[in-house]
Amino acid sequence: MNLTPVLTDTWDKDHSWRLATYEGAGGYAGLKKALTMEPADLVQAVKDSGLRGRGGAGFPTGMKWGFLPPPDGGPRYLVVNADESEPGTCKDIPLMLASPQHLIEGVAITSYAIGCDHAFIYVRGEVLHVYRRLLNAVEEAYEAGYLGKNIQGSGFDLDVTVHAGAGAYICGEETALLDSLEGLRGQPRLKPPFPAVAGLYARPTVVNNVESIASVPAIVAKGADWFSSMGTEKSQGHGLFSLSGHVTRPGQYEAPLGITLRELLDLAGGVRAGHELKFWTPGGSSTPIFTQDHLDVPLDYESVGAAGSMLGTRALQIFDESVCVVRAVSRWTDFYAHESCGKCTPCREGTYWLKQVLHRIEAGEGQDSDLDLLLDLCDNILGRAFCALGDGATSPITSSVQLFRAEYQAHIDGHGCPFDPSASALFP
Ligand code: NAI
Repeated sequence: MNLTPVLTDTWDKDHSWRLATYEGAGGYAGLKKALTMEPADLVQAVKDSGLRGRGGAGFPTGMKWGFLPPPDGGPRYLVVNADESEPGTCKDIPLMLASPQHLIEGVAITSYAIGCDHAFIYVRGEVLHVYRRLLNAVEEAYEAGYLGKNIQGSGFDLDVTVHAGAGAYICGEETALLDSLEGLRGQPRLKPPFPAVAGLYARPTVVNNVESIASVPAIVAKGADWFSSMGTEKSQGHGLFSLSGHVTRPGQYEAPLGITLRELLDLAGGVRAGHELKFWTPGGSSTPIFTQDHLDVPLDYESVGAAGSMLGTRALQIFDESVCVVRAVSRWTDFYAHESCGKCTPCREGTYWLKQVLHRIEAGEGQDSDLDLLLDLCDNILGRAFCALGDGATSPITSSVQLFRAEYQAHIDGHGCPFDPSASALFP
């Protein structure tokens, strides 16, 4: 069920991923219109639409394009961040599988707008099926004259390279992604300079998330006002909300920003039958967790922030009362410790230390001082790590200790976990 079927408009059709299906639903009208416009007017239209980065940070997309320095005759690049890896985040991969032409049309329009003739799509290494689908979709777009030389007779040339990473979470961090694309080990670079100034091969580069770029064709075709009429005053437009975990009908729900979890759960058949909501993530595991008390928080950047978390990637992981919060947080922390790139000490040492403390609490070997130790460790990572990975690792820990301190204490006092892991069917 989709309240704003834009990105998802063809997902239910036969062979939804084929170019013919996309064209049959009006696809590539945005590119044809864009090629009649001045590039600067396209940048302005995206600014006016209010589109904000859908990769999690919510940075205004048109403003990012506007940061590129004036052309100097050298190359400038568009790099699509398709390295979706955040636990719970699962929107870009279904989008690229079901409707890759949304992305490719967006790549063509964005490249024209920013004056780029070579764009890259960096896709997560583990999803070989998505890589193959993108390769096929790019080939179809070349054959139809939407990519390549003299696109639609406009004189605009564009090549698109699809690159598969090697499966490292850190390569979703935009500068680590650029290093990886250049053939180096993926580790974040110091910012500034931001990629807009010195990105791929030290040239001006726009790095945008898949969903951000896929949102551009409809903005161009239907107008900035159409897009900005959806959502809230500062969080405009539509987006994919990914419901997973203990929900009756998990999946992608496309809706205006500002919808609440209560409304999304109504669409998704509610929490699994016979159970009740215990906690949830508004935007993947890197965002502070919420509880029942936050069911009516509008899911826009400002409201979620004011309630103490982040909208992030709109990855709504739903956990009912059968889930042990310590176990869930401990598994996420295992992930961050494993994926830490090792470049900076707070993240490399800190995530490993957090993992050890959580493991001993879960195993019934925790001490009374461990909860304050966890908070102290988080305090020493947050804001001190080189990139957002370290900060993200602290979010589920600090928020869960604040909201469920008694549950942590019960593990320490009772020398073990009071939950039956088989009851939740999650986090075995
Ligand atoms: P950020 O806020 O540092 O930057 C966001 C974007 O704005 C970047 O592209 C950056 O280059 C640009 N930017 C910011 N200030 C700029 C300036 N003054 N000049 C030019 N450009 C500027 O956030 P970051 O570290 O890029 O991303 C963090 C977010 O990533 C988190 O909020 C999290 O939700 C999300 N995330 C998403 C994952 C996924 O799988 N989709 C995985 C992990 C995190």
